[in-house]
Amino acid sequence: MVYINGERHDVSGADAFLTLSDFLRHRLGQVGTKIVCSEGDCGACSVLVGRVSPPGDEEGKSGGQSGGGKIIYRAIDSCIQFMYQLDRAHIVSVEGLKRNGLLSPVQDAMVKCHGSQCGFCTPGFVVTMAGLLEDEAAERKQALTPDELRYGLTGNLCRCTGYVQIIDAGCSVDPGKTARVSELYPDGPIAEAFGSHTAESVVVKDDGERTIALPATLAEAVAFKAAHPDCTVVAGATDIGVQHNKGKIAPKDILCLANVAEMKGNELTGEMLTIGAGTTWTRVERAIKDAVPQFYNVLTLFGSPQIRNAGTIGGNIANASPIADSVPFLFVTGAELELAGPKGSRRVDINNFYFGYKKFDLREDELIARVHIPLPTEAQTLKLYKVSRRRDLDISTFTAAVLVELDEAGGTIQNIRIAYGGVGPVVLRLPKTETFLTGKPFEESVLREAGKLARSEVTPITDVRGSAGFRQQLAENILSRFYFDCAQPEAV
Ligand SMILES: Cc1cc2nc3c(=O)[nH]c(=O)nc-3n(C[C@H](O)[C@H](O)[C@H](O)COP(=O)(O)OP(=O)(O)OC[C@H]3O[C@@H](n4cnc5c(N)ncnc54)[C@H](O)[C@@H]3O)c2cc1C
Ligand code: FES
Ligand code: FES
Repeated sequence: MVYINGERHDVSGADAFLTLSDFLRHRLGQVGTKIVCSEGDCGACSVLVGRVSPPGDEEGKSGGQSGGGKIIYRAIDSCIQFMYQLDRAHIVSVEGLKRNGLLSPVQDAMVKCHGSQCGFCTPGFVVTMAGLLEDEAAERKQALTPDELRYGLTGNLCRCTGYVQIIDAGCSVDPGKTARVSELYPDGPIAEAFGSHTAESVVVKDDGERTIALPATLAEAVAFKAAHPDCTVVAGATDIGVQHNKGKIAPKDILCLANVAEMKGNELTGEMLTIGAGTTWTRVERAIKDAVPQFYNVLTLFGSPQIRNAGTIGGNIANASPIADSVPFLFVTGAELELAGPKGSRRVDINNFYFGYKKFDLREDELIARVHIPLPTEAQTLKLYKVSRRRDLDISTFTAAVLVELDEAGGTIQNIRIAYGGVGPVVLRLPKTETFLTGKPFEESVLREAGKLARSEVTPITDVRGSAGFRQQLAENILSRFYFDCAQPEAV
């Protein structure tokens, strides 16, 4: 069951396998949602997806509510979201933002500020801006700032108008006079309809004998995986959706984790942060903002808001890309993966998880259930680096994480962990460089020397994002950069 612009739809059979954008355009004739790239890169297909916040949920604590029961709306790219992921979600497309047949305040502002020329990107911008107004606590009275808009619109590309007019339009919207989605579509009746479906697992089949399982519990998810070891596991579909749209995969059996509540959320106990594998990057970002600001900063450059609103930490780990942005951080902190199987769960140090390109220690009847991250202590210094061809919405060319602990006098390296991404088939630790540095003085000349050793430990390739030589140079230079960041932060 899904709601679209306030109306209930019971989707079954082959329709459940469609992308949301295809369903909106081809089944409902709602062609306001545009398709340009079909791979999450342009935001033309943005729609709002609302889900009921669980009891006690921090995100639900707005508008005078105590958390839980409120529908939280977030912009996502509908071209890489499948209908089967949207059970018990309320979709609001650009058509649904109108009130009494009149343009919404954001649409009106786009007209008045000349924010649209060919208009192809415009519905995506309008929906994403509506989402930005939605995102803050409902009592928001201040207009969006240019910086908030620039950050919030990194996932929306415009090829002809230019961004000045679009930012002007966003800034000119008066939040006090803008109806929130919950005013257009009151939460109560929709949440009530969803509530009656809370604990139900769903299986959908189509005529071609494709199957989708939407379990409600981790145990059911694992049981389906054990019975269908070749099934395709789908969490946020930001990787799977792209592969599907490029024709690289056509899954027969699908295990969708969207409704497994046990795999979502964060818990901070002492120095240990536990994150459910199905937790979106947006929620992780908020949970770690104060606890690990360095990781927060990297996440602000992870894809776009639309990607972070859908993509999950478990998907990033299991996608096993050597340039996955979270993995170097997880390596140096010594994160453990909790892997759930039919006979219970086991824990694996992520440093031992990968053993080749896209090869890792996950049995065919297992799922990644949770990630346990020991947070850096006060005695440790953590720095994370992402090098990409463009700052925003770009895949990394090279990534690095360095975690160091100096002796009490601050002169000698007691312990150092270094992880690099983009310089081999998997994210790499640098054991020779770490051993060389341990016990040495924390000095520029030592870090420069270590950089040469680091260069010899990596095996990069040349691809569209950079040459092997460039990556080797980065592998060498980043340790000097690390020294200056720690020892002379004002010099960088
Ligand atoms: C436009 C765009 C920009 C992006 N930018 C970045 C970026 O800056 N940095 C970056 O690192 N990545 C980026 N990505 C990649 C992607 O968003 C991330 O890897 C994301 O975390 C994947 O999560 P997901 O839930 O969407 O995974 P899905 O697509 O659902 O799944 C990915 C893989 O993980 C498997 N899987 C998912 N969950 C589990 C589980 N619990 N147990 C076992 N297997 C599982 C799936 O079977 C699949 O093989 C980008 C992608 C796009 C489309
Ligand atoms: S069409 Fe470009 S992100 Fe969906
Ligand atoms: S108005 Fe033409 S792409 Fe933005």
